Amino acid sequence: MRLLLAAVLAIPLGLDLYMPVSEDNPITPEKIELGRRLFHDRRLSRDQSISCASCHDPERAFSDARPVAVGVFGRQGNRNVPAIINRGYGRAFFWDGHVDNLEEQVVQPIQNPKEMDMTLAEVSARVGLAPDEIANALASYVRSILSGASPFDRFVYGDRDALTAEEQLGLQVFRGKGNCTSCHVGPNFTDEKLHNTGVAWRDGELLDPGRFAVTNKREDQGAFKTPSLREIERTAPYMHDGSLDTLEEVVEFYNRGGNRNPYLDSDLRRLHLTAEEKKTLVAFLRSLSGDIREGVQGLWRPLNNP
Ligand code: HEC
Ligand code: HEC
Repeated sequence: MRLLLAAVLAIPLGLDLYMPVSEDNPITPEKIELGRRLFHDRRLSRDQSISCASCHDPERAFSDARPVAVGVFGRQGNRNVPAIINRGYGRAFFWDGHVDNLEEQVVQPIQNPKEMDMTLAEVSARVGLAPDEIANALASYVRSILSGASPFDRFVYGDRDALTAEEQLGLQVFRGKGNCTSCHVGPNFTDEKLHNTGVAWRDGELLDPGRFAVTNKREDQGAFKTPSLREIERTAPYMHDGSLDTLEEVVEFYNRGGNRNPYLDSDLRRLHLTAEEKKTLVAFLRSLSGDIREGVQGLWRPLNNP
């Protein structure tokens, strides 16, 4: 797949980053608009009860409040709905990273029996579009969902007052003693790689194979993709299984060095954070909430001028 690079999408949000876009599916306003309509279209689900937006709620940074996803006929999945913001920059999709591009990604929930439970042919007949038009439009819309212009971004761009003193201390813990940046790195706070933090391991038992289902390598048991931390305050509960309810619980989890298991990532260890350091770290994480833009409407407006 040849890639075109789209920078213009994100410039209004101050994200100085090129977005990889397939040469077969260049971004156009028409496709984004069509994708937006499909994203909210319940005909994509078997009983016409849910759309993409039912799980990826725009009010919650395109995630939801449940621990795990609930699809058609109340069918429960086993994983937490990820926030889909700035995913146009992504290199690995799904918690186990089994897909590497958005065109392939967006048609999987349609066909997943626990999510929308349709075939592409059925959806195609219902909405009167070819399957690749559906995939291209949905992928283009997902690329248009962007978050930026957070207090953290303004701080990085030189506004030293954009973060409070507490948040700045939290940033130091994030980069230093907390060692968070060994995985949550770059403008979107993810290395797009898979790591075993032990969330899937309880008392030596593996509850979700994670990456192992893709690679069949023993050391990948319980490895999951590093999620972005942008808008993290709006996307509780946390982790691939929604097992942690608050950011305080997440910080406690890392403070104890994750969950013990035979393949724990070597970047995790006991952190010995003080109560004060934990508080500042949570305050810093909250500073990653910014301005969310989606669709053609949001694309061309200048930073800080809504
Ligand atoms: C029933 C709830 C549900 C519906 C409906 C749903 N999703 Fe998802 N979505 C999820 C869950 C859960 C995951 C993570 C699944 C996994 O990794 O195993 C996910 C993952 C994704 C991802 C990957 C995010 C990442 O960073 O890895 C994208 C993009 C996405 N969905 C877009 C869509 C689109 C587009 C639609 C509509 C065609 C849709 N979803 C419908 C629950 C849902
Ligand atoms: C070894 C890599 C690694 C390090 C170091 C790391 N993380 Fe993570 N982080 C991950 C992975 C992988 C996940 C998803 C784990 C899962 O669900 O099984 C995650 C999940 C999270 C989540 C939940 C995100 C969501 O959408 O559910 C938060 C919040 C978080 N990390 C914050 C931090 C903080 C704060 C630190 C530093 C104290 C840190 N992480 C250190 C890899 C890492």
